[in-house]
Amino acid sequence: MPFAEIITLEQFIVDQQSLYKDADGSLSRIFRSIELATKIVNRDVRKAGLVDILGNHGGTNTHGEEQKKLDVIANDIFIAALSKSGEVSVVISEENDDPIFVEGAEEEKYIVAIDPLDGSSNIDVNASIGTIFSIYRRPSNSKMVTVEDCLQKGKHQVAAGYVIYGSSTMLVYTTGLGVNGFTLDDSIQEFCLSHPNIQTPTTGKVFSINEGNYADFPDGVKAYIDYCKEKDASTNRPYGARYIGSLIADFHRNLLKGGIFMYPPTEKTPKGKLRLMYECNPMAFIVEQAGGMASTGVERILDVKPTDLHQRAPIFIGSTEMVEKALEMLNHPEIAVTN
Ligand code: AHG
Ligand code: MN
Ligand code: MN
Repeated sequence: MPFAEIITLEQFIVDQQSLYKDADGSLSRIFRSIELATKIVNRDVRKAGLVDILGNHGGTNTHGEEQKKLDVIANDIFIAALSKSGEVSVVISEENDDPIFVEGAEEEKYIVAIDPLDGSSNIDVNASIGTIFSIYRRPSNSKMVTVEDCLQKGKHQVAAGYVIYGSSTMLVYTTGLGVNGFTLDDSIQEFCLSHPNIQTPTTGKVFSINEGNYADFPDGVKAYIDYCKEKDASTNRPYGARYIGSLIADFHRNLLKGGIFMYPPTEKTPKGKLRLMYECNPMAFIVEQAGGMASTGVERILDVKPTDLHQRAPIFIGSTEMVEKALEMLNHPEIAVTN
């Protein structure tokens, strides 16, 4: 790419700031911290296998899941970077039971939620993994930030994004003015605008779900899966099935190409598996900004009022027409076989 055409993430954020009337640079400073943390995690991810960072850490996180070493490394890096930004009063993380109140910054106006390493089960097998972040403004005027301040509906996010450590490393984010994607140019260690104004197709040919759980899905979900696999030339069915087990990788593919990702409730996990604050909300904000849709099956993801920092939510997310069809069938499984 000719030098004159390169737009770095930093440049892009500065330019976008001028579109907000009360921007004071705080959000840019948070983004700078996230960008730096991302580059450090990226370096470590790329070295996985060469140095001793593969495998289990030995502990479990707040969800009772085994922590991988990279989970812990990425968590520490992001918390340190966000704490040092000087703009964040509290960080909540999928990996920590309790919020991390930043010493000396309790009055600062931003709250950040992170899934530092998404798709951990893929680390040891060299498949794509990611990082997810979500930023809220602190609502209360009290001096000290509280847990209640963190329990905001997803529609109040001021920014959300993800990083995918894939065949290349990309950062995709929104501040409510559309979705833009940046690819890390390793040679200059800069994220460069590569996917401006991402719009997700209104429909697609891919459905992504852990079909191994089929027997445990509600009838409506079973009906929709059957519909996806049914032959019908007029609607381009059967759809292709794609599921890698990293939300970020599955979501990113569907965002660019069109498709639906589902993690429904099952008998074992009546609220699904994915975490509302660290996974569902940021993805829902991004997909809506790209023209797509995200629902729990009952309501818009961004309208769910969290009652617990670590609560889970079922999710149906992706191309609008596909999500709408899934929701229709969820509520009427008997209409499964015909259009
Ligand atoms: P994490 O690695 O942050 O715990 O997230 C894993 C999540 C998500 O990335 C993925 O979509 C889902 O778990 C896969 O779950 P199953 O293995 O149950 O399909
Ligand atoms: Mn995750
Ligand atoms: Mn994780």
